[in-house]
Amino acid sequence: MSCFIIEGGEKVKGEITVQGSKNGTLPLLSAVLLTQGKNVLYGCPQLSDVTSALKILTYLGCKTEHKNGTAVIDCTDAWRCDIPDFLMREMRSSVVFLGALLARFGKAELSAPGGCEIGLRPIDLHIEAMKALGAEVNESGGRIFFACPQGLHATRITLSFPSVGATENIILASCTAKGETVIVNAAREPEIIELAHFLNRCGAKIKGAGESVIYIEGTDKLYPCEHTVEQDRIAAVTFMAAAAVTGGEIFLNGLHQGLLMPVLEPFKESGCTVKADANGVHLIAPKRLRRIKTVRTMPYPGFPTDSQADFAVMASVAEGTSVIVENIFENRFKYIAELNKMGACARAEGRVAVIEGVKRLESARVEATDLRAGSALVAAALNARGSTVVDGVAYIDRGYESLEVQLKRLGAKIKRGV
Ligand code: EPZ
Repeated sequence: MSCFIIEGGEKVKGEITVQGSKNGTLPLLSAVLLTQGKNVLYGCPQLSDVTSALKILTYLGCKTEHKNGTAVIDCTDAWRCDIPDFLMREMRSSVVFLGALLARFGKAELSAPGGCEIGLRPIDLHIEAMKALGAEVNESGGRIFFACPQGLHATRITLSFPSVGATENIILASCTAKGETVIVNAAREPEIIELAHFLNRCGAKIKGAGESVIYIEGTDKLYPCEHTVEQDRIAAVTFMAAAAVTGGEIFLNGLHQGLLMPVLEPFKESGCTVKADANGVHLIAPKRLRRIKTVRTMPYPGFPTDSQADFAVMASVAEGTSVIVENIFENRFKYIAELNKMGACARAEGRVAVIEGVKRLESARVEATDLRAGSALVAAALNARGSTVVDGVAYIDRGYESLEVQLKRLGAKIKRGV
């Protein structure tokens, strides 16, 4: 597995156009299965998770091509409705093919998905929702078999938690189901809005995406379309945090500030100046960051769990003590032990981390324990005195397009090693 070698102390400074969103792209790569003909996704990021999704589509019989940020997918000849274990294990998002497979073939076969180990991550909400839409579900030998010989039928589904993936699966399954499906307590993330927007352009009738209640009126047929993937709001925060901990300054070209709404206040609380206009978002770091009293991760529009580690790194070099409460995943503080190897003064117990800021971090050899932990450790290394090695870069490659190349352009001293 490759590593990053980072000489800390250089300011992260300059302008960047943030890559297309990973979590926005993945459900779109499932949505294309509902259409026949060529779909084109512009700004489709070059990430290992995207490659995994394209491998699944190829396995299912679709034609895929991904070059220079454009993915072309033609699902006309898709014929399989099973996803083998080895592809399911590559990422969590493989489960989001479920709704589209059921809608297209009236059956689906898969196993529990893999992905970053940040908690239990069950798929019970997905399974219950498919049952509510009329699927019969059987499990045997680690495989789960879904069948709806009479087709899916619309219904009202109240989610016990606004799960992003389950909301996406219900939308995908119900676009062509008969009647009106209603999702109550739906996830409200921007990625849900993007999925609904894409599907509506394909001919679906979805209303309310971005709100807690979503209405989907089934239609007979969806058509392929062309779409530009929204910029990645989570990667944007990573670059902002990297600028913040190095006393730098960054301009995020073309980024809608609305995407950053849940993190703007905490950035300001830390002493950063954040200005936004129609051209993008500009962050200027203070000489020394201030503590962020309490960050609590919540479903959107709350503070995103995926940006929690970035803020922990900022807190680790801020003046004062900060508290982070993780409410979404049970096990998302594994990186704290790594951060402490770099001289941070942090303690995590259960879902709470208490971080006492130090003036500057020290170099060490650390390990990315998951995707966002990995990118946050890179930000930490940019602050640290000396040369830090971050192992486990394969995790980071799941969600960041050549992170080292992007950071180098912003003045960081970073290279990929083995
Ligand atoms: C999506 O995961 C994102 N992944 C995650 O990003 C993100 O952290 C998460 O939403 C929350 O915002 C993608 O979009 C590909 P959930 P998802 O279902 O859909 C529990 C990253 O770093 N739950 O909203 O898997 C679950 O265990 C990744 O980019 C059930 O109990 O998240 C978790 O505690 C990591 N049963 C909570 O709900 C279920 O059936 C939220 O999960 C489903 C979920």
